[in-house]
Amino acid sequence: MSIVQDYVAGALSRLNTQMLKRTGVSVGPGVRCHGRPLVSLASGSSVSIGPGTTLISSSKRTDLGVSRPVIIRTLTSEARIRIGADCGLSGSTLCAAIGIELGNRVLLGADVMLVDTDFHIVDAVPRRHQGLPPSYTKDMIRIADDVFIGARSIVLKGVSVGAGSVIGAGSVVSRSIPGGVVAAGNPARVLRPLSA
Ligand SMILES: CC(C)(COP(=O)(O)OP(=O)(O)OC[C@H]1O[C@@H](n2cnc3c(N)ncnc32)[C@H](O)[C@@H]1OP(=O)(O)O)[C@@H](O)C(=O)NCCC(=O)NCCS
Repeated sequence: MSIVQDYVAGALSRLNTQMLKRTGVSVGPGVRCHGRPLVSLASGSSVSIGPGTTLISSSKRTDLGVSRPVIIRTLTSEARIRIGADCGLSGSTLCAAIGIELGNRVLLGADVMLVDTDFHIVDAVPRRHQGLPPSYTKDMIRIADDVFIGARSIVLKGVSVGAGSVIGAGSVVSRSIPGGVVAAGNPARVLRPLSA
């Protein structure tokens, strides 16, 4: 990038970060937003983004491109989304009815989706008449430090991924994955320890 392009990108990033703050997000120093994320907070809920984290919502700023902007949404007053320091999110969706936590230095590949609710009740009759199913603390999603989640993976309610693990592209993570492993597939299963 030229110096002028760099300057313009920096200014736009600052504007997008200001927008995040106006929406009610707690934003740490050095957070960068390439392209405008979509953020909405239910009244009483909270979202925080740790220092040095980068949100990429524009295909110009990532080799793989993104299909959509970063989307961060809390759906209920109890919901909490906490993103740690020095994380990188590309076109990722974090949608919480109860809670989503990312540790530090977590990388979410293009179009990854983390969602801690089914949105609709599984049984057909109440599904037609009721909104969001109830959420419990056990439904929280917890992604530990230094995890890398491959592009277009989906992480479902109640899942934890332990420190340093890698989740292969296009995985559906429906059960927790320990730290220090490579896991992939639908449903995601451990393939091997990281050091092997
Ligand atoms: C998970 C990953 C890191 C594994 O890489 P690796 O250790 O070199 O693994 P290999 O390619 O040797 O594959 C090992 C086995 O896992 C399987 N596998 C690898 N990635 C897989 C995936 N995403 N889904 C399902 N199975 C997968 C392979 O088919 C192979 O199975 P086999 O032993 O039965 O033949 C890699 O495949 C991957 O998905 N990288 C993520 C890329 C990405 O999304 N980047 C984000 C950019 S924004």
